[in-house]
Amino acid sequence: VTLFDPTAVNVQRDPYPSYHWLLRHDPVHRGAHQVWYVSRFADVRAVLGDERFARTGIRRFWTDLVGPGLLSQIVGDIILFQDEPDHGRLRGVVGPAFSPSALRRLEPMIEATVDDLLRPARALGAMDVVADLAYPLALRAVLGLLGLPAGDADAVGCWSRAVGRTLDRGATAEDMRRGHAAIAEFTDYVERALAERRDDGADLLALMLAARRSRLMSRNEIVSTVVTFIFTGHETVASQLGNGLLSLLHHPDQLELVRRRPHLVPQAVEECLRFDPAVQSNTRQLTADVELHGRRLRRDDVVVVLAGAANRDPGRYDRPDEFDIRRDPVPSMSFGAGMRYCLGAYLARLQLRTALGAMATLPDLRLATSPNELAYQPRTMFRGLTRLPVAFTPAG
Ligand code: HEM
Repeated sequence: VTLFDPTAVNVQRDPYPSYHWLLRHDPVHRGAHQVWYVSRFADVRAVLGDERFARTGIRRFWTDLVGPGLLSQIVGDIILFQDEPDHGRLRGVVGPAFSPSALRRLEPMIEATVDDLLRPARALGAMDVVADLAYPLALRAVLGLLGLPAGDADAVGCWSRAVGRTLDRGATAEDMRRGHAAIAEFTDYVERALAERRDDGADLLALMLAARRSRLMSRNEIVSTVVTFIFTGHETVASQLGNGLLSLLHHPDQLELVRRRPHLVPQAVEECLRFDPAVQSNTRQLTADVELHGRRLRRDDVVVVLAGAANRDPGRYDRPDEFDIRRDPVPSMSFGAGMRYCLGAYLARLQLRTALGAMATLPDLRLATSPNELAYQPRTMFRGLTRLPVAFTPAG
């Protein structure tokens, strides 16, 4: 019996065979680094709905890991690392900006952005979906959510990537050094944006400034929230768009189906999310001893739930390894569950539907490299391609 280790090269390339081993033989598995890995759908849902599986310890883990300084302060205030009551307070402030009615104002911008980004490619008949569409789209969408100018996307994208790399088990000393340098510039930028803003708009920045006036949110929490949302809001969507399109490219019959029947796009997006999620895992630390699936887990143990495995659980899905956009949509674990269910799910779906719908219309769309040449970014929690070169028949 080997220990499951998400940093292993073969797991990063294709985690699904290992997930099946876990699902079948050891659904609550003590893996590498003394971490518990939970794979079955029902167990994952139970963990995510149980407050004893908490985040505070995880916050301490990361703040210790990045060392003292601004980065650790920002990381310490991230909503994702708070437990109640702070988690509920922050979620209450930012939540309204994520409702479908609030996000409707972003729909025309998202459609226009996809159009703009595809224009040069349409003429060429070739593009790298990751660099030319996925990242720029996702970044502009999250800047729109916050109420920050789309023109800042390049700078913000660089800082965000540098900071994000520090929050991964595979982070190197050089990643840490760059993360510390980037957070200083990033924070300056957010501070300037806040100083120039009024709290009377419909966007998230305005909402948070109003919350600050009524002492519901501190300035540090606002800076931290902006940084986090930019990072989580764009890395996830960008990675998911690449993973989803690759699934369609590997199944040309289904890509053709989406092209001929655009009303299937929302269902196709759900299947892409299930089949190869951008967020593979979520981490918790126990505040009490707990029994799960006959295993005794101890207070302070670190528990990782594997959404990517839960989405392939044969106890939950028929033919779990078949990519089938026509399957009866069964919700997946890709946006999490319980009190931390992804706030950005609607915004993510909006982008994925618009972008995948537009890509599917490109005539004779195909992968422009051998599948063996495709590589994944070296990360454990997020799964996303480094490049996704495609070709199609150019317009006119
Ligand atoms: C939470 C996935 C897009 C903001 C989560 C969680 C998952 C997830 C799995 C739960 C984390 C946990 O339980 O520890 C995804 C995926 C996305 C996506 C797969 C894209 C396809 C976005 C976007 C935003 C966003 C666009 C917008 C800024 C958040 C926030 C939380 C969250 C704020 C924390 C909620 C809380 O702690 O209460 N996301 N996400 N996400 N997501 Fe997303």
